[in-house]
Amino acid sequence: MSKSVKIITTVESLRTQLLEWRQANLTVGLVPTMGNLHLGHYSLVEQSVKDNDRTCVSVFVNPKQFGDNEDFSDYPRSLDSDEAGLSECGVNLMFAPSIREMYQDGFVTRVSVPGIGEVLEGEFREGFFIGVATVITKLLVQVFPDRAYFGEKDYQQLCVIKRICADLNFPTEIIACPTVRAKDGLALSSRNSLLNPQELLIASNLYKALKCTAGNFRLTGNRETAIILGKELLKTKGFDKIDYISICDPDTLKPLTENNKIGRVFGAAWLGSIRLIDNVKL
Ligand code: PAJ
Repeated sequence: MSKSVKIITTVESLRTQLLEWRQANLTVGLVPTMGNLHLGHYSLVEQSVKDNDRTCVSVFVNPKQFGDNEDFSDYPRSLDSDEAGLSECGVNLMFAPSIREMYQDGFVTRVSVPGIGEVLEGEFREGFFIGVATVITKLLVQVFPDRAYFGEKDYQQLCVIKRICADLNFPTEIIACPTVRAKDGLALSSRNSLLNPQELLIASNLYKALKCTAGNFRLTGNRETAIILGKELLKTKGFDKIDYISICDPDTLKPLTENNKIGRVFGAAWLGSIRLIDNVKL
């Protein structure tokens, strides 16, 4: 029988619980999420449960990382099924604070990561990484975990968080987990549930276009042509708008021009009103 996960909604009770674990010399893993959990999230959770004595999963739809025209109110929420799923996995604690608990009256502090936080997603979603960096900094301070788990699905987010930990001397080890995909290659994402059946059939072409861009670049060394061919594929398959396809250095996220180096291909494109992102290894 599964043990039920303990739900905590205030920072004060979170601290009390963590103090108890620390005093017992137990290691703690943190998996930050915005809920509506799917197998991608659960792969991080399982890794944390394996690696640590105790696992805390935060579920918080962070308003600060949504732009004015973005889908904060439509973002899918499913706290009850998340709770059931986390209990099944042997998670000890679900931290689900209210917006007010995270951002009290007068809250103004912003954590910003120039450079890697300003390219790719940073260019198209103003303020997004400031929102992510601010909430992750708070969660790391609140939980002070030994390890924190993030998905390569959001590879740039992972880079930004690693930068924060290095710059601010957080002792937490950041663990990168591989992207979990559907059979057709579509990266699992909470936003996929907002796609209609027709869009869902097209969606995996983002992954295919990035693989195609990677293959062409490896083969020819011509960055621009490889990107154009990737974008063409997306247009032909029915994507409505393409924000970018880019080939970058995996650490600096600067454009990569030599095809014999380690790299990553990143893409963001729209199906109707839903924006999808993905990335693949070169
Ligand atoms: P969310 O989109 O809920 O994702 C939570 C974590 O799950 C992130 O680290 C993300 O990269 C990972 N993840 C999502 N889909 C995945 C997949 N298909 N395979 C592997 N990992 C996957 O990312 C956020 O929330 C927020 O920005 C957050 C970091 C919680 C800050 O608010």
